[in-house]
Amino acid sequence: MLPTIAREGDTVVMIDQRKLPAEEVYVHCKTAAEVARAIKTMVIRGAPAIGVAAAMGIAVGVRKSKATGTQKVAAEFYRICELMAATRPTAVNLFWAIDRMKRAFAAAAKAGQSVDQIKDVLDREAQTIHDEDVASCRAMGAYGAEVVPAEAHILTHCNAGALATAGYGTALGVIRGAVEAGKQVSVFADETRPFLQGARLTAWELVRDGIPTTVITDNMAGALMRQGRVNFVVVGADRIAANGDTANKIGTYGVAVLAREHNIPFYVAAPLSTIDLSTPDGSRIPIEERSAKEVTHIGGAQLAPDGAAVWNPAFDVTPHHLIVGIITERGIFRPPYVESLQRAFARDTVPTS
Ligand code: MRU
Repeated sequence: MLPTIAREGDTVVMIDQRKLPAEEVYVHCKTAAEVARAIKTMVIRGAPAIGVAAAMGIAVGVRKSKATGTQKVAAEFYRICELMAATRPTAVNLFWAIDRMKRAFAAAAKAGQSVDQIKDVLDREAQTIHDEDVASCRAMGAYGAEVVPAEAHILTHCNAGALATAGYGTALGVIRGAVEAGKQVSVFADETRPFLQGARLTAWELVRDGIPTTVITDNMAGALMRQGRVNFVVVGADRIAANGDTANKIGTYGVAVLAREHNIPFYVAAPLSTIDLSTPDGSRIPIEERSAKEVTHIGGAQLAPDGAAVWNPAFDVTPHHLIVGIITERGIFRPPYVESLQRAFARDTVPTS
């Protein structure tokens, strides 16, 4: 299992995903501000992983606080929560994790716990968010494996692997689950311009696992599908609206359209923490725009001329009608998503795979 993020005493340690696969370097964040910066600058990325990072950053920030008395600690706590919330706007897991930390803080404060006890509560909640995410990925892997063909040629986009989660992965969790279930699996990894999460991170993870992996540039997926060389598509998600519209890495929408044209099942794998029932449809999902330099440069080398305008949305929205199923830790949910996703949150949910 890859060490995506871990707590070591009062430090949050994460592998620097900007440097992979060339270098395996770990970043040690000793303050909440350093964790927030690591999220913003993509040291750590991927929806569930940034939720875990924010929770750990909040816990470390409060642990280091010199504030005395619950009221002053509360002010410091909410300031740190705002710092985390301002890092990246699209992945709802970030806000979900911050809300969980807020609920844990409020319950401890209401129960009259001391500042030291509150700090312990926050440490435990952050670790629980981490551990639950690994368990969710494992469950997604087991459910998802059931719908993967016995001889699977899977296309995936971006990195929804161990590096994007607390471990094991969502889309890559499904791939790993299928391999563990004895299916014959090979993977095509879209390189995923501009940040190259597919070529750098997905391929790195899969090669380490010994899963046959072919990297393609994003514009090759159509030709590959037309040649009949893909029979399953699975991707992760950054936010799933109540009607099933799904925001994921830019380029996912194009892959979904191509999959529909070629009658290839297109699945999304994501934990419930990625489903945002308060957002009715994809048009309401905030889409992060990142720096022009990510598009105009690769590895420091300039590709596009000075003066050219650049559009660099980090995500797009795949409309729900292109999604065959949403694989979660509670089973696979099918259209109509307006109904099935509500059921996903019901306590007595029976998996529908
Ligand atoms: O910009 P990133 O690298 O954070 O975007 C990541 C993605 O779009 C992933 O596919 C998504 O977060 C799912 S991760 C399990």
